[in-house]
Formats: sequence, C-alpha cells, structure tokens
Amino acid sequence: MLTLGIETSYDETAAAVYHSTQGLLSSTVFSQIELHKNFGGVVPELASRSQLEKINSIVALALEQANVLLDDIDVIAVTNKPGLPGSLLVGTCFAKAIAWAKNKKLIGVNHLEGHVFSASIEHNVPFDHLCLTASGGHTSLYLVRGLGDYEVLGETQDDAAGEAFDKIAKLMNLPYPGGPIIERLAQEVDFQDFYDYPRGKKKNLNFSFSGLKTAVLYDLVKKNAYDLKTKTFAEQQNSELCKKVASSFLVCVADIFEQKLEYALSLNPHIKAITFVGGVACNNYIKERLRKFAASRGLPFFSPSREFCTDNAAMIAFVGNYKAQQKLFSDFTLDIR
Ligand code: KG4
Ligand code: ZN
Repeated sequence: MLTLGIETSYDETAAAVYHSTQGLLSSTVFSQIELHKNFGGVVPELASRSQLEKINSIVALALEQANVLLDDIDVIAVTNKPGLPGSLLVGTCFAKAIAWAKNKKLIGVNHLEGHVFSASIEHNVPFDHLCLTASGGHTSLYLVRGLGDYEVLGETQDDAAGEAFDKIAKLMNLPYPGGPIIERLAQEVDFQDFYDYPRGKKKNLNFSFSGLKTAVLYDLVKKNAYDLKTKTFAEQQNSELCKKVASSFLVCVADIFEQKLEYALSLNPHIKAITFVGGVACNNYIKERLRKFAASRGLPFFSPSREFCTDNAAMIAFVGNYKAQQKLFSDFTLDIR
C-alpha cells in the first residue's frame, strides 16, 4: 500500500510517499523561512499564498523521487489540524480534490500526532515511551503506548519552547528562526550558565516559557542592553553579552526539559525509552543533554534526523499508513481545525 502525505499547516509545504512494507520512499519540503525572515515570525497571509504557489510542484517532486505515479497511490494523508487556517486549507482542499478526482482513500492527520511518531520513521522505538515534542507552535510531553495510542502528560501554558527561542533572538536583533543562531552563540562560550534564569516548578509536568522570556528581557534591561521605551537593543549580534545570554537561556531550557522528564519518569517507572522531536530537537546541545539523561536512567533515546524534526510530510505519511491499516479513513466532510 502506498500513502501520499501532504503537510501545509504552517510555513512549510511538504509531501512524502510511504510504502507499507518498504518504508519511506521520498520526502520533499519547501521552507518559507526566507519569506518571513524580515518579519521576525511567520505572516499568515504570506504563508498561505506561498502554500498555494508551491503545492503542485512539491507533490509532483515527491511522486517523482519515489518513482511512482499518482495513479499508484492508494491513500492521501493530509494534515488537517492544528495550524494556520489559510495554510491548512491549501493542503486539505488539495488532498480532497485529488482523492475525489482519482478515487483515492482520504485520511486527516493531526500534525502533533505526526511529530509524536516522527522518531519511529527511522527507528524501532519501544512502547511505552515518553515523547517530548518541542517546536515553534507546541511544547508537550506525551506518554506513548503504541501507534496512535498516546496521552498528553503536560503541555505549555503559554509560549512554545521554539517560540521562546524566536522571541529572545528578536529581542537581541538576531534573525528568525532564533534556535539555530542562539545555539551557535552559546557554543562560542562553551554552553555555560552565566545568569541562572528561572527554571520553574520541578514537580509539575506543564511547561511555561513566557516567564523565562520576561526574565531574559529584564536582565537585558538591567544590564543597559535593552531600552524598554524604544524597544531597541544596544549591543552587536556577536557581543559577549549576546553569547552569555544565549548560552544561559539554552542551558536553562535543557534543564527544564530534563526536570520534566525526571518527574514524568518518577510517575511512570515502566517507561522503556525517551524520544525528543519537533524543530527544537535540531538543537545538538539539548539533544546530547537528554541523551545522557536517558542513559543515566538506562533508557534508549531516539530523536529523528533534522529533516524529520522540523515540519515535514514523512511523519504525516507515516501516521496515514498505520491509520489506513486500521481503516481509519476520513470522508469528504474532512475540515480544518
Ligand atoms: O517544528 P518546526 O519546524 O515548526 C513548528 O511546527 O513550529 O519548529 C520550528 C522551531 C522554531 O521556533 C525554531 O527556532 C526552532 O524550531 N529551532 C530550534 C533550532 N532549530 C530550529 N530551536 C533550538 N535550537 C535549534 N538548533
Ligand atoms: Zn510542527
């Protein structure tokens, strides 16, 4: 059985082909980072327009790279929630149209379920496991019992972790997305903790990053590096202060993740593995910290390749494939959320 996955929930246009026995055959992504760079974040209207421009060619490329024709596809799996409405509509309408015209099965996939199982595209991850999902839009901890069988243990009460990276970068005049540049600056001062930013409550599985962002902001104000009235940052991108703030922030986020995993393990001692997924899982420092933490508990640790950490359609096709095996098809009333 062949599944075509389509993902257009945010600022990536992606398609992938998954074979039920051979695994992933192709995965193509067009990223809109350049389009939104000057705005310090994603502009919804620009995002949906770009989705519309790219969807045909990205799907055609995924079919070509998999060496299959649209006629060979059995199932169309598409992200229908959650995301930006305009962006989601492009993929969902496109998927419904080809499913109807070509008489294919249709499956709506939850983007977050895609991330939760993204480590299983390349690895045989044992169940039950804990999955930490951290991206620009979401930060949650899941107890995963099997394919399609998972429960939210905790989630962010305000900003997502990636959003905090992006907002702190913006404060310091650093380009969007903030994660990669903050990691690079932190590396220059050896990932040390200079400013001891607040870690939050230890015995709680929910996350909160807006307090951390405010702590960084007021630290910059106190150090005369940021003017609250004019909203301007006085330092150069490469200053020692920038590096120290980036590094202290990064170490703080890694500590918070470790604390949550530690508490979740104390409540769920039967856990057999830990996975770390989503755009923030591109961060090598955090990944290595969590790998060491898992090893200290005798647990295997899995994180997808970078291309499957950030938004992609391989994870949507993967989820579509196991849903199709259970005959969990959608009808043409499938809508976005
Ligand atoms: O999963 P993703 O591509 O899109 C969403 O679904 O949100 O994640 C994008 C987020 C951005 O906030 C970006 O700053 C963050 O992932 N990110 C990183 C790194 N690379 C990307 N955060 C920390 N360190 C990185 N190296
Ligand atoms: Zn995502």
